[in-house]
Formats: sequence, structure tokens, C-alpha cells
Amino acid sequence: MKAAPVLSRYFPLLNFIILMISSHQAVAVDQSNFKKCHQSAFCERQRNYKPERSPYVADLSTLSVTDDKEISLGITNKDNSKNFVMQLFFLQDNTIRLKVNEANPLKPRFEVPDTIVKELHSARLSVQDQKENNTATVVADSRKVLINADPFRVDIFSEDEPVFSINSRHMFHIEHLRERPTKPEAKTEEKKESGGIGAAITGLFRWTEDGKKEAIDEEGNVIEGGVVEDAEEKEESDEEREKREAEEENEDDNAHENHPDNQEGMWEESFKSHRDSKPRGPESIGADVSFVNFANVYGIPQHADHFSLGSTIGTEPYRLYNLDVFEYELDSKMSLYGSIPFMIGHNAKKTVGMLWLNAAETWIDVDSSKDSRGVLGTMFGYFASQDVPEVNVHWMSESGVIDMFFFLGPTPQDVMYQYTTLTGMPYMPPHWSIAYHQSRWNYNDEEDVKTVDSGFDQHDIPYDCLWLDIEHTDGKRYFTWDRKKFPNPEEMQKNVASKGRKMVTIIDPHIKVDNGYHIYSQAKEKDFFVKNSGRSEFQGWCWPGNSAYLDFTRADVREWWATQFKPEAYGGSTEHLFTWNDMNEPSVFNGPEISMHKDNIHAGDWEHRHLHNMYGFYFQRATAEGLLARSEGKERPFVLTRSFFAGSQKYGAMWTGDNIAEWGHLRYSIPMLLSIGLGGISHCGADIGGFLRNPDEELLTRWYQAAAYQPFMRAHAHIDTARREPWLFEDSMPNIRNSVRRRYELLPYWYTLFYQSHHEGLPAMRPLWFEFPGATETFGAEDSFMVGNALLVRPVVNAGVNSVSVYLPGDQGWYDVDTSVKLPSPQTISVSTPITKIPVYQRAGTIIPRKMRVRRSSTLMLNDPMTLFVALDDKGTAEGEVYIDDGHSTDFETDQQFIYRKLKFEKNTLSSSVITPGKYDTESWLERVVVMGARKPSKVEIETAGQTSQIGFKYDPNKQLLTIRKPGVNMGKDWRIVIS
Ligand code: GLC
Repeated sequence: MKAAPVLSRYFPLLNFIILMISSHQAVAVDQSNFKKCHQSAFCERQRNYKPERSPYVADLSTLSVTDDKEISLGITNKDNSKNFVMQLFFLQDNTIRLKVNEANPLKPRFEVPDTIVKELHSARLSVQDQKENNTATVVADSRKVLINADPFRVDIFSEDEPVFSINSRHMFHIEHLRERPTKPEAKTEEKKESGGIGAAITGLFRWTEDGKKEAIDEEGNVIEGGVVEDAEEKEESDEEREKREAEEENEDDNAHENHPDNQEGMWEESFKSHRDSKPRGPESIGADVSFVNFANVYGIPQHADHFSLGSTIGTEPYRLYNLDVFEYELDSKMSLYGSIPFMIGHNAKKTVGMLWLNAAETWIDVDSSKDSRGVLGTMFGYFASQDVPEVNVHWMSESGVIDMFFFLGPTPQDVMYQYTTLTGMPYMPPHWSIAYHQSRWNYNDEEDVKTVDSGFDQHDIPYDCLWLDIEHTDGKRYFTWDRKKFPNPEEMQKNVASKGRKMVTIIDPHIKVDNGYHIYSQAKEKDFFVKNSGRSEFQGWCWPGNSAYLDFTRADVREWWATQFKPEAYGGSTEHLFTWNDMNEPSVFNGPEISMHKDNIHAGDWEHRHLHNMYGFYFQRATAEGLLARSEGKERPFVLTRSFFAGSQKYGAMWTGDNIAEWGHLRYSIPMLLSIGLGGISHCGADIGGFLRNPDEELLTRWYQAAAYQPFMRAHAHIDTARREPWLFEDSMPNIRNSVRRRYELLPYWYTLFYQSHHEGLPAMRPLWFEFPGATETFGAEDSFMVGNALLVRPVVNAGVNSVSVYLPGDQGWYDVDTSVKLPSPQTISVSTPITKIPVYQRAGTIIPRKMRVRRSSTLMLNDPMTLFVALDDKGTAEGEVYIDDGHSTDFETDQQFIYRKLKFEKNTLSSSVITPGKYDTESWLERVVVMGARKPSKVEIETAGQTSQIGFKYDPNKQLLTIRKPGVNMGKDWRIVIS
């Protein structure tokens, strides 16, 4: 049964047959397709690297400071006398960078390009204290780094408290580049005849630095010329000589095999039927980093696992190696489609983060067990109690240099700002893309598109974008159309666009090998494809059959790719068409672990192994650049990607790939998306309903309810599933419609959140502790989340559930958005959850803008009036923001065409004032204000442009709910509403 899911992955029809046959069997990932740590030679070596005491020693006499900004320092591995150079930078925004590379590597080692966007201005540092060459203390503002020389250890302090310690567990280890040991040649008769070969007598050898073997005596002295002066010569019979020669050969072989530079898996490695030639030999790196005084760490997406990272001791480490994992398992540390080597530590007082900047296969051990604690607490003497929690993290990568960034926060918002300043702010999505999307593999033809499009109108369900999967192409040749099914694609797009809607087509990175296909022939002529280890065009299997893979790591390839999106190049496309990038791990059906061979060759002669985790990142970047170029930089791109890396947030949205129509997958969408948000990708979502198999109505309804409050909202389904447009479920349709409509009402709030993401790196969907850092009850929470700072959402994610419990943090209380009833906090409440109920609460002290007139698409709502929901806290105050622009162009950035305003309620007055001045004019006006927790007014007046007038209101004393009718002021102007 194991092969079936894999085969069925490539042949949908076969999948259908298998599903029919095995419909009662649980389907799960085929584990045997993917490596465990012990099957990855470097992981095995690094994981087993556990010296009692680290042999790495810093020589503080080499410490030098350049321009008061950079420290450099020599380090030696005493075990093999290899030298390394450490560099330390204190960067702006409370960030510290620590790099270690070989002092004189045999060849350059790979350093990750294109991820760090901002020129890093270092802060001035000074070496404050150097004690007899055993410790040095470096300081800059509230940051301090203590370097311990022997053994090498680095401790990082923030505001005088230790937060990170590197190599306190002695696992720091860099495998130096080396020559492959050559097998010694058989001894010549001449030498043997000269007799007395030392090695033959003592049987001892030593390997020289350059991989040569020299004979040594018992004391370890080199035997000059291999001859032992006082060795007795004696006559040898032929028989004796043959025996001796055989033994010598054997010893040579053994010594060769046991050579430390020639361990199994160092110079080649096999997995299933694939051989990796490893021409550079071993070059892995590892380091332990302790998060001191932290019990919870988060991040390192993508895994279908719990939000707070669990211990890996005795099990598999977390793995980061972008892979197309069919039927991925939950509660698993296996790799998935994307990798962000960024981890956050949070405690009630502080939040910190670290980036392990490496694009090669990476494994991460996490140990937060009680047993591993206390050492640092005692060592530092900084904490009163011995029982200081620690999370000990062991990073292990196949190649590259050690390049770590430490973000010292101290708030969650600070850490996200620091990380996204470095790796790039999330892109600003076009407005339509944050609304609801309808997709399936496949909408079959133009007629189908038309029917689905009008189905939404008939059933009064808004939607903004219709997606076309791989079957729309001519034989999986991207940028083409199957003209039988789609004879008039421009007209089809224009029809959809007439209601303010858009379309998306899929474009994958594998290119069908076909000289008659323009993309293939042009790229071939330009020599743009990734090469195999023999330096000819690499070909592998994917949807189109035999395919070549463009080398998106090359700037010239990306530039050429970008031109393919121009309307003249992409026949049948219009400005209403956007892009979905899939299979970009890259997925290679017949490759090792369903991906590309690690010894394939990219630009600059780097092997695929060095940058594997960035392939998808570069692909999405090239596509986003193409969409931008198509409008000459005027229109914002939208590109959805499956694979990603640190920094992908700059180029578009992501989704969690091929999930399953099971309650567990709905449940895990929350921790998965929370982790991805902390990885900087704010616009993220999971396929509604589950991609594989058929959801029942209850699951589908609950999924819509949850996704309405998740950043990227798209329904999508596998080709073999039953159709699931909402109206096909008569009973559930009203509830599904209601969820989608709620999304649309909230779009002004979502849009403001995405602007905040774009400017401050804040994830739109956040863990509760992000807003309530001291609420320890929330540190493990993964069934509820915040949308922005104002809404707490607790979706129903289990079958047949009549009530759920919800923890409400903070001390200001919350308002149920359905009833406006105030609930005090902190407390855990039990909420009844009939199928109509989505438990959502507005935090007291916040203001949320909504548009209550839901239309067919969000574009049609651009100028609609807004309603403000003001939730008063105990002091009778509340605050919020609203961001408005044209929703699609880049003018907000290039010409300040935006409105960004603060909404504030205090002293019985609600006011709107500018945060950042912009030039955009909106027609949107204020049609209603709902104040929750209000007292009864005697009159309500509005002041704008020097005029004051009285306005009508309604008051519900039971709910303390004040509704102010038709203030009528423009949302882009200054105004005040005074309640007396
Ligand atoms: C992959 C994608 C899925 C898509 C399918 C066909 O499995 O994850 O979303 O429908 O390929 O393109």
C-alpha cells in the first residue's frame, strides 16, 4: 500500500481508483520517501557531535575592532588545528550578528545572498573588559556580549540579563573543507625489495594535512622515506611475501576506510535509488544556542506541528528542507514546502528572536526538558533561583557558514520589526486579494467559469477571484491555454472583471521539454536551465512529463522570466490575471525525496545542496517582478507561493499546500499559520475544506468560519474530489454565506492590518501572547488567535461540538461581536456553539472599522461608507486605526496616495486624526458609530470643518449600547463626535 499514495500523486485517476478501493483505510504520508536524521549523513555526524568539552578555543590576542563597528577574532579547533574567524556586529534595531567562517577555506563556502535587504548600520561598540585573555566583554548601548576563550562560548545579554548562550553545550562544530583522501597505490616491488618498510613493520600510519599517508613508528615518529634504519632485514620465502603483501593491502584499505576524512557519507551518499556525489565532501556546520530564561520557543516554519515547539530529544529533530510531501502528517517535525530558520523565544517579560541564515538542509533539535536546565542559571549567577528555564536549540546545516542574527526585542512587536527590517517588510497585498477566493483543480472550461461566477451572484455570496489550475494549459505548458476549453480567455477575464473580480492562473517552475514550446526553446537557447552533476541540462518528471527547471537563482533568468508576463508574451492574459506559483520546492517526481538532486549545478557553480531552500523564494520573486513590470511598476503584484524561505514575505502570499479534509487539518491550520506569521509571511492561509478528500457539511462550514478570520481565504480542492461550491450544500449554504459576508464586512480592518504588516512587520493573525505578553496561560494556546490587536477568534475545530471554552486574557474585558455583551477578563468562559456561531470577541479599548453593505466583490465596495465599532474599556476609552488607498496601485508608495488615520475615543469624544499625511481622497464616509459599554447621552454632536451639528442616536440600556446614526463625515477628514 506504500507505493500507492506516491503513484497516485502523479496520476489523479489512479488516485481515484485507489481511494475507491481503500476508502476505509487511513491514508498517510509515505514516510519512506523522506529522510530521517540518521539517513542524512551530516545530520547523523552533527547530532552525535557531543564532546565533553568543546575543542574550539578563541585566541583573544587576535581580537580586533574595525571602525568601532566590527569585532573579529581567531578561533581554533584544537582537535585538528583548523582555524576560523569570528565576526561580531552590533546592528541597528537591537540586533546582533555573529558569523564564523573558516580562516582559509579550500574553496569559498556558500553565504546566503538576497535575503538581507537593508544596509546594516552598525552601532558603535567598545571592548569594555578583557581578562587575561580568557574573557572579553563587548558593549553597545543596552547590549552586551561576553566572549569566553577556552572553551569558546558567546553569551548575549540584553539590559544586563543573559538571553542567549552559544556553545555552552559544546556542540559548535564546523567541518572544514578538505581534499578527498586518495587510496594509496600498491607498493612497488622495488620498495618492498629495499625491505624494512616501516609501515610494514609497525603497521602504523598517519594522515598528513593534504590527505597523504606517511608511515610512523610506535612512538609516532615519522619514518623518513618509509625506511626504518635499524629494521632487521631477513630473507623471505615467496609464500611469506605473498601473505605479507595481501596483509599490507588489507591494512591500507582499512586505514583508508577508517580515515577521519573518509567516513561513510562524507564523499557520497545514497538514498533509495538516488546517489548524491558530494564533490566537495563534508562541509556541515552546527551550533547550540540556549534561550536563557525562556520556557517557550516558536517559529521555524513549516511544520504541521504544535505552535510552541516541542522537545525532539529521543525523537526526530525538526527538519527544514523544502519538500512536496503528499498527504502530510500532523503532529510531525518532518519538512514541508517551505523553510524559515527563524525562532522566537517568549517569556512574560521579554521576547527575543534568532535567525540561522542558511539555505541548505537544516535539522534542529529542541530541548526544553527540566533535566537540561539550571546550568546556565548557575553559571551566570544572574538569577536568584537555580531553576531558570532554558530552551536548548541545536542547529545543524549541511553546508554554508555560521551566520546568526539575534533580535533582542524586548517586545513581540519589536522582534517582528527587527526581523522584517532585516529580511524585508511583507508586501502590501492588492485589496481584492485579501477577500475570498474560489479555486479547484480544475474549473474545466469557459462555461464552467461562467456558471461558477454567476452562481455566487445568484446565491448572494461575495467573491473576488476565480482560480485556474494546471488543466487550463495546453499540455501543462505554462503561459499557454487549452484553446478547446478556453478559446477566448481575454473575454472570460473581462467578464469576470466586470464585477470587480480577478482571475489567477497557475504557473509552475518545471518547463516541459519540447522544442516547439516557446518557453522551453528560448530558455534552452539561452542556457537558462539548472544543470545536472555532469553539467548538462537537468531533466526530471513533473506534471508535463519530462521537464527542465529554470535556474531562478540567476538574475538574468529572473529578468527574462519577468518579461514573460507582458501581455504580448503571455497570450490570452489581461491586467485582471494574476499568478499562482506551485511545485517550487522544487517538486521532481522522480528525484530524491521528490525533489532535485543535491549535486545539480546552479549559477556560480554552487550545488543545489547549498541553496535548495531558496529555490521557491527566487521563483516567486521572479514572478512578482514580472507582474510588476507588466504594468511598468504601476500595479501591485499578487503571487501565491507554496514554497518559501526567510524574506519571501516581500513577494506575496503563501498557503499550506495539500491539506486533507479532516478535522485535524482544520485544527492544525491555526498553529501552522501562527508560525508562518511569526516567520514574517503575514498573508497566509490553508485550503478551505481540505484539498484532499471530501469534507462533510459540518467540517466545510466550520472551515469557512475559521478561514474567514485567517489572512488568506481560499477554497480549493483536488481534481478527484466532489464539487464543493457553497450552494451545493443547501443546508449549510446560509452559514457559509454568513462567514464569507463577515469577512467582507471586516475588510477595512484587515486592510489596515496588512498595511501595518507592510510597515512594521506585524503578522495580521497573531498569538494571544503577542498582545498579552504577560498572560502565561496563553503561551501554549493554539485553538484561539488574535486578528490584529482587537479581535480574539476561537473557531470550532472539532466535530459535533455544542460548546467551547475560551480564555479571555487581560483585565479590561471583551465584547461578544454577535451580542455586544461585555465579558469581564481574565477568565475562561464556556460558549455555546450551534453551527451558526463563530466565537469572536472585540477587546475593550479598541475601535474597528467595518463596511456593512456587502456587495458582489470587494472592489465594488471601495467607496462604500464605514461603520466604526468602538469597544470601551474601564476608563471609557478606545483606539484604532484606519488605512485607505485605491486598493491596487503602487501610488500609495510612490506618490503618498493613501489615508492613514488614528481613531480615538476619550472624554466622551470620538475623533479622527492623521497618523501619516497622505494625498488620497476617498468617497467613503462614516455611516454609523456603535459604542459598546456606553452610558446614555443626552445629545450627540458632530464637528467638522468648523461646523457643529446635532445627530441622531439610539441607546439600549440593557446592553449599554449606543448607536450613532449617519454622522456623514468623510473618512479621510478630521472630525469629532462629542457625546454629552
Ligand atoms: C499541487 C498543489 C495543489 C494543486 C495541484 C495541481 O498538489 O499543492 O494545490 O491543485 O498541485 O496543480
